[in-house]
Amino acid sequence: MDDDAPDEALAEFKTKHLGGWGVAQIAAGTGLTVYAMWVGILQPGFRKVPLRLQVPYIPASKAQVNCVMTLFRGRKGGFVDLGSGDGRIVLEAHRQGFTPAVGYELNPWLVRMARFHAWRAGHHEEVSYRREDLWKVDLTGCKNITVFLAPSVLSLLQQKLQTELPDDALVVAGRFPFPDWTPYRIEGHGVDRAWAYSMKAQRPHTFKKNDIPTNSNLNNEITKKKGST
Ligand SMILES: C[S@@+](CC[C@H](N)C(=O)[O-])C[C@H]1O[C@@H](n2cnc3c(N)ncnc32)[C@H](O)[C@@H]1O
Repeated sequence: MDDDAPDEALAEFKTKHLGGWGVAQIAAGTGLTVYAMWVGILQPGFRKVPLRLQVPYIPASKAQVNCVMTLFRGRKGGFVDLGSGDGRIVLEAHRQGFTPAVGYELNPWLVRMARFHAWRAGHHEEVSYRREDLWKVDLTGCKNITVFLAPSVLSLLQQKLQTELPDDALVVAGRFPFPDWTPYRIEGHGVDRAWAYSMKAQRPHTFKKNDIPTNSNLNNEITKKKGST
């Protein structure tokens, strides 16, 4: 065996300059790694969701969670986070007495992470994280709902919430407000801001009696959007 071979190879590696081809290989490798992370870790669960309705994961800041929970102060009962990410808001809602506290999240990695956080905090039996498409969740009867989603989907979500939620429901939007609703209270500043909406107050403003969307025409709209992507 030639004992000098590894040293020689190392010396050659050290003295060799990166040519254009080397740079291209590194760039391609980095691109592939990022793509693999997107497909394997961030993207799973979203294959059946139309592109226009896909919302990336950005965790709420601590200040944002505080603003959201301040707006729910004085309320009780069930709590839902639509697109619950790593579960931080659901966990905080549980700590503040909401029960059941439920998060709906499509990304299986985030669902696992949320369950792990709840387990680590000793609350895994009291909170629940479900891997479900928020557009397919029946929200009838939910009283306390929070969302932190992209502005592009909030208009369609308004319709779903108006169709399904009871009058005494409170909806809190983090970071981005609903485009057509009037909040009755706003908390925080900049990216941490949150908006509170009473469902009863929204109904007469946005839809006339015959315009209130049904579940089936809402589904049609989602399908139409799917077709247009
Ligand atoms: C901006 S993050 C907010 C995460 C969390 N609510 C928070 O405040 O930290 C939006 C989350 O919604 C999830 N999401 C997007 N579309 C979804 C869908 N159709 N059904 C369920 N979850 C969805 C994403 O995976 C992402 O985790």
